Parts: sequence; C-alpha cells; structure tokens
Amino acid sequence: MGKLRLGVLASGRGSNLQSIMDAAAAGKIKAEVAAVISDNKDAFALERARKAGIPALHVNPKNFGSKDEYERAIIKLLKDHDVQLVCLAGYMRIVGKVILDAFPNRVINIHPALLPSFPGLHGQHQAWEYGVKYSGCTVHFVDEGMDTGPIIIQAVVPVFDDDTADTLAARILEQEHIIYPEAIGLLAEGRVKLNGRKVLVK
Ligand code: GRF
Repeated sequence: MGKLRLGVLASGRGSNLQSIMDAAAAGKIKAEVAAVISDNKDAFALERARKAGIPALHVNPKNFGSKDEYERAIIKLLKDHDVQLVCLAGYMRIVGKVILDAFPNRVINIHPALLPSFPGLHGQHQAWEYGVKYSGCTVHFVDEGMDTGPIIIQAVVPVFDDDTADTLAARILEQEHIIYPEAIGLLAEGRVKLNGRKVLVK
C-alpha cells in the first residue's frame, strides 16, 4: 500500500503542519504531505512547506466572486496533487459544502479543546476563562457545523491554578503535535471506521 497523500490547509504559523511533516519524514506514519495550501500569503506554514520541498500554494479568497468558487480552486489544486486526505491545521475559515462533497469523510481538523466543549475560536482561552480543571485537544472529522464532526482522538491536559491562557495553550499544543500525526497514521493504515457519529479505531 502506498503512502496516503495529504493536503494541508493552514492559515498561520503551521506548527501542526510541522509535526505532520516530521512524523512523515521520520517514517512514523504511512503518509506524506503532497501540498500545503494557505489563504494567507504570509503564513509561516507556507515557509515551512517550502523548506521541506513540498509545494506551498497560496490561494487568495479575494480573487473569487464567491466562497464556492474559491473552494473549487482549492479542490482543483488538491486533485492536481492527488490528495486523498485533507488536514486542516490552523485554517481560519469554515470549510464549506463544496470541499466536503469533494472529499466525503476525508477532511479532518485539530481543535485546541475537548469537544464538544469550547468550539470556535480560541478554545484554550475559553476553557481557561471558564475555569475547567482539565482541557485538551481533539482531532475530528469535519462536517458542516463548527467543530461538530465525529471525534477520532482526544488528549487531556490538567489546568493548574497558576496557569495563564498562554501556558495552558502551550501544554495543549504539545499534545496536538502528538495526536494529529497519530490520527493521520491510523487513517493511513485504514484503521478508522465511522459508525454514525462514532469513530471506531481497529
Ligand atoms: C492550533 O492550536 C490548532 O488546534 C488550531 O489552530 C492552531 C494552529 O496552530 N486549530 P499552528 O498553525 O498549527 O501552529
């Protein structure tokens, strides 16, 4: 079986992208990053991809008349690079029906909180402000809702009294860098089965 070809969509610093590229380069997962696409031309994620010799592509949403057209351009690039699994890694846009229909159950995301708590932006900050004793991160399939798709893996971290939102976010990020490649590895090995909302790992 060949390597699963990943298309990573990222808008920012790309530390999760880096953890995926590193796991792939080290042979820890049967996957390879085929292309990195960003809506932000200055995203450090693009720089990381270039450094790794991976196609780094910028698609400016402003060049399109509608979100559907923009997403069709993304799909074209994903297909041109034979992408089989789309990984959102700090992609600051809601993925629409156009992409989801083109990659059914083939779009995943990492969220910095224990879903279904604290969806949306700044999950780490929301959890810290709320005063939870544990938080963490979630890798999930993407559906049309906001961070609502079936959960593949979660990791839990404690929240300490002297934490700030930033120290908590850093503790969560360490776990993100572990479970995102791990989830991709499971998918690459065909060990993930979807049963309604439930994800079964063989
Ligand atoms: C991460 O916290 C991720 O959970 C969230 O956006 C952030 C992206 O960070 N979806 P990076 O660009 O991967 O460093």
